Amino acid sequence: MNDAPILQCQQLTKHYNQGDLDVNVLKGVDLSIPVGARIAIMGASGSGKSTLMHLLGGLEQPTSGKVILDGFDLTKLSSRKLAKLRNKSLGFIYQFHHLLGEFSLLENVAMPLLIKGLSVKKSMLEAQNLLDRVGLKHRGEHKPGELSGGERQRAAIARALINQPKCVLADEPTGNLDSKTAEQIYQLMLELNQEMQVSFLIVTHDVNLAKRMDNVLYMEDGLIKN
Ligand SMILES: Nc1ncnc2c1ncn2[C@@H]1O[C@H](COP(=O)(O)OP(=O)(O)O)[C@@H](O)[C@H]1O
Ligand SMILES: [Mg+2]
Repeated sequence: MNDAPILQCQQLTKHYNQGDLDVNVLKGVDLSIPVGARIAIMGASGSGKSTLMHLLGGLEQPTSGKVILDGFDLTKLSSRKLAKLRNKSLGFIYQFHHLLGEFSLLENVAMPLLIKGLSVKKSMLEAQNLLDRVGLKHRGEHKPGELSGGERQRAAIARALINQPKCVLADEPTGNLDSKTAEQIYQLMLELNQEMQVSFLIVTHDVNLAKRMDNVLYMEDGLIKN
């Protein structure tokens, strides 16, 4: 058994220069996400949660420190290799679904497979299977604009999982939903975590939802407090 963490960061810092002002957003974050883990991140607005998620996802480069995804140091990869690894190993879910409005749900969910070069037929079949699993069996032909917030977030989850990533990064995935719908979306993510052996790192403001994870981390002023 290989029990190396799927994703980790070491002494991660991020500074922004705004004119004369130097903003230290992350001040040396250490984090390790085991395979299959469920971890929540909480913390005040502006404490650096989204910045940390961007760095962990390889969407931005740190000022210093390392991010290691599936054994690869993201700060050392070429942009082409980084994009490939990210596509293979990570899924992303955001507060707003970021589905493409002019495409059907089926097409939205199939998109990562089509981009990877899988045939249209196979891509659509896999997308339909996953739509079935997230409770959207009969919604595949609809456009995102025709669905409720909860349904769109289910589709966003399906899209994040279609490539069978090893880790999903979710930044306030239920922040835009009522509490009952948020609860259902959380339940779905926990089930998929078990079924697909995929780690979930979820930023949330909801204490009750966070408590259902294996571990809750608190960010404060650019650092994780224990
Ligand atoms: N691109 C940027 N340029 C300058 N400051 C930024 C940038 N992105 C984020 N920040 C600052 O970093 C801090 C943390 O932001 P963020 O990571 O979005 O926090 P959170 O997600 O916890 O609310 C905030 O003070 C924000 O203004
Ligand atoms: Mg944020």
